[in-house]
Amino acid sequence: MKDENVIWHQHTVDQNIRAKQKSQKPCVIWFTGLSGSGKSTIAGALENALVARNQHTYLLDGDNVRHGLCGDLGFSDDDRKENIRRIGETAKLMSDAGLIVLSAFISPFTQERDSVRKMLAAGEFIEVHVATSLSVCESRDPKGLYKKARTGEIANFTGISSDYQPPISPELTLQTDELSIEQSVAQLINYLTQSGYINE
Ligand code: ADX
Repeated sequence: MKDENVIWHQHTVDQNIRAKQKSQKPCVIWFTGLSGSGKSTIAGALENALVARNQHTYLLDGDNVRHGLCGDLGFSDDDRKENIRRIGETAKLMSDAGLIVLSAFISPFTQERDSVRKMLAAGEFIEVHVATSLSVCESRDPKGLYKKARTGEIANFTGISSDYQPPISPELTLQTDELSIEQSVAQLINYLTQSGYINE
């Protein structure tokens, strides 16, 4: 609960100054999609491409964050909501630090993704749907989790026994069933340059 006697301190060095120093427009590139859809792979490849262009980035990755910041959370609806709330707040701080933040979480619920969008300024949240179909994700099954979900060994598994709500109007949709990783990265870099987040 926020205490009424805790008052925001406006420091002199702000997001604008930090953004200018880094020659970029800070933002949160929010990848959402099923487990095994390629969120982490595409986010990682995009981060490599951005760093090669001298941009300043940070990648927040589902499985990694769940080892630390969100290590106390499971996969019930409430835990997933709290997971996304914490990541949203973390991404907001990093964007305020002037970074281009990439986040790769299933983030299955529209309401939680929208609440992160609302935390940020207009244009600061770029929702990217990694639209790999369930059948393709299940056939890849890189961690063997779909198999366990089908036998009931894992409960509340997204797409099988827990809901996934696809974004209604994302800034970008990656038709990954038809695109290579390189083509997805090219589409993202194109969006970021066209929209003025990074220079040509
Ligand atoms: S989210 O729903 O809260 O956004 P998050 O992206 O952090 O999920 O974590 C998803 C990863 O946790 C998956 O890629 C998978 O490796 C693992 N995982 C373990 N159990 C589950 C489950 N029940 N549902 C989905 N992913 C799971």
